[in-house]
Amino acid sequence: MVDIAENGRTWLLSGPASSYALHLTEADELLHLHWGPRIALADAEALALSPLPAYWPFESPLDGREEYPVEGGPRFVRPALSVRTEERRGTEWRFVSHQSEGDELRLTFDDDGLAVTLHYRMRGDVLERWVTVANGGHARVELLRADAATWTLPDREGWRLSQLHGRWAAESLLATAPLTYGEKIIGSRRGHTGHQHLPWVALDTDATEERGEVYGCALGWSGSWRIAVAQLPDARVQITGGAGYDDSGLLLLQPGESYTTPVFAGLWSDGGFGGASRTWHAYQRAYVIPDADRDRPVLFNSWEATNFDISEEQQAALARRAADIGVELFVVDDGWFGARTSDRAGLGDWTPNPDRFPHGLKPLADQVHGLGMQFGIWVEPEMVNPDSDLYRAHPDWVQYQPGRKRTELRNQLVLNLAREDVQEYLWEQLDTLLSSAPIDYVKWDFNRCFTDAGWPGEPYPQRLWVDHVRALYALLDRLRAAHPSVAFESCSGGGGRIDLGVMSRTDQVWTSDNTDPLDRLAIQHGFSQIHPARVMAAWVTDSPNTQLNGRESSLRFRFVSSMAGVLGVGGDLTEWTGEELAEAHRWVELYKEIRPVVQRGDQYRLRPPAGGLSAVQYVLGDETVVLACLQAQHYGEPVPALRLRGLDPTASYECRETGEVHRGAVLLHHGLRTGLKGDLDATVLRLCRI
Ligand code: DGJ
Repeated sequence: MVDIAENGRTWLLSGPASSYALHLTEADELLHLHWGPRIALADAEALALSPLPAYWPFESPLDGREEYPVEGGPRFVRPALSVRTEERRGTEWRFVSHQSEGDELRLTFDDDGLAVTLHYRMRGDVLERWVTVANGGHARVELLRADAATWTLPDREGWRLSQLHGRWAAESLLATAPLTYGEKIIGSRRGHTGHQHLPWVALDTDATEERGEVYGCALGWSGSWRIAVAQLPDARVQITGGAGYDDSGLLLLQPGESYTTPVFAGLWSDGGFGGASRTWHAYQRAYVIPDADRDRPVLFNSWEATNFDISEEQQAALARRAADIGVELFVVDDGWFGARTSDRAGLGDWTPNPDRFPHGLKPLADQVHGLGMQFGIWVEPEMVNPDSDLYRAHPDWVQYQPGRKRTELRNQLVLNLAREDVQEYLWEQLDTLLSSAPIDYVKWDFNRCFTDAGWPGEPYPQRLWVDHVRALYALLDRLRAAHPSVAFESCSGGGGRIDLGVMSRTDQVWTSDNTDPLDRLAIQHGFSQIHPARVMAAWVTDSPNTQLNGRESSLRFRFVSSMAGVLGVGGDLTEWTGEELAEAHRWVELYKEIRPVVQRGDQYRLRPPAGGLSAVQYVLGDETVVLACLQAQHYGEPVPALRLRGLDPTASYECRETGEVHRGAVLLHHGLRTGLKGDLDATVLRLCRI
């Protein structure tokens, strides 16, 4: 809901537990007033009366207080908006109008024909912010930088910054450190979201997992991006974020053209990091993820089992095994198309390899359907191998700098998706593919970063960075509209493209190529800070782990680790013994029982993976599920009990595994024993309120 002061210059947006307020001075300076617990309009109006500090001339009274600091005038902070016209650089705006509708507020400013609109939309307790810049009068406007928002934190001492960092096979690792003066910058200059940072930060001073104030910000953009967290000279903290890594130019706006930034969402929670995560999860399930109330099926993916060496008969054999253990969706990964027998060839030619699938994909898809499963397929549409029919026909369709070497990574080049002919080619190829066989699922991969992002002949080639992402989104939207029953997975060599932007167009994401169940606990712990289990794909693969570390682990440990998200199986089932297959079947059936609670419930991180016992708990209505993993038991000491969360202290709960009845108050205060011991042990405990 939006409250507006009578003078039309103070605005208050409120969700169930939080409020956000801003104020426009008589000089048209837009100041931040409040972000935190719910307040009344009168409180915001009282805050608006506080005078700006009298810093001058070496500091600016506006710095650290403005909603959207533009370049120019008495400001020394990082500008969120930087524009260049034929005459000058910078912005000096005049307030034009405000509009509000439901939970949405729009404030429009004008600078001599350049219209800047700040958008605010409350979604539960998550505030979405974005900006539109429109050229209404200039011969040309160069947008050097247009961030989606600047967030301002209240005055506190001792801010800490949490981030999710990583690299291939080690994504989403949580790191927290004190913030000091100056700027901390995270982002990607790789053309995709990147494995190195999830576009999320959290700021707190003394929060714990379940208590204390946490501020979180997350960007919905799948290209290069930047989030700058600045502690200013007076210790105030601002967080600015948007598309693009540097300020060298996003787009050129011709008269009548406009640019809309991605959404930079933010929340305040006083429920600690756990409370903040649950608010993020609820927001994504309600407003971001398509059909989030529909649970995701258990899938099998062929990648680790068969790599590039695939055939129709061999995939059919795997499919029969997968069906036997209860899998619901069978996905053929890389290697089914063009001349793709290794990573050296074939990308770009999205028709079935005639030697491997002589009658196309339909016979296999029909067999899979006949086994009672859905059928899925892998693609990597934004790429091309030089050894492909597509590249031979259109060598100029890739990103390249004239006269320079075309950098190959994984033997592939990036297609220039900003070109309309490339967009049309991909649409035709993928639309034809999805119409050629009963395909229910597309795993959409992206396996290299931009390196030579040039576009010979294009007057403003920088636009390729933004336009690639826009074209990707448009292609996904068009395919989804034309094939509404097909679900999509976002993958980028594991977790290289996970963000709120792609998540609004895909049904789940591939978390990491690291399928080692122990490493996964830390990756999943980080992932859950922002994203819900409902999108977090996790596969049980072979032991010893073939991809990374050779670690041996039991099926039990592998399954429990993977049941914390959308369960998948990725091992070579043709090599599994009858006993292993029977055990796998039992775990898959158990997952199906707990799936609604895991995928739709409130998640509580009971203990982080730190070497010993770790556990996550999910609560949906009367049902509770605990997934507990013990990495190593030391010194013969008993494994600690798990203090549960989110239960009714006055109720009793029956544990399905043991038949024991526990008092809610006891589970909350004293905890539940897991019975785990030794190394790499794990268990699932289901509790039902009675
Ligand atoms: C990278 C993905 O993350 C893997 O799961 C697999 O699909 C390979 N690409 C295939 O090339």
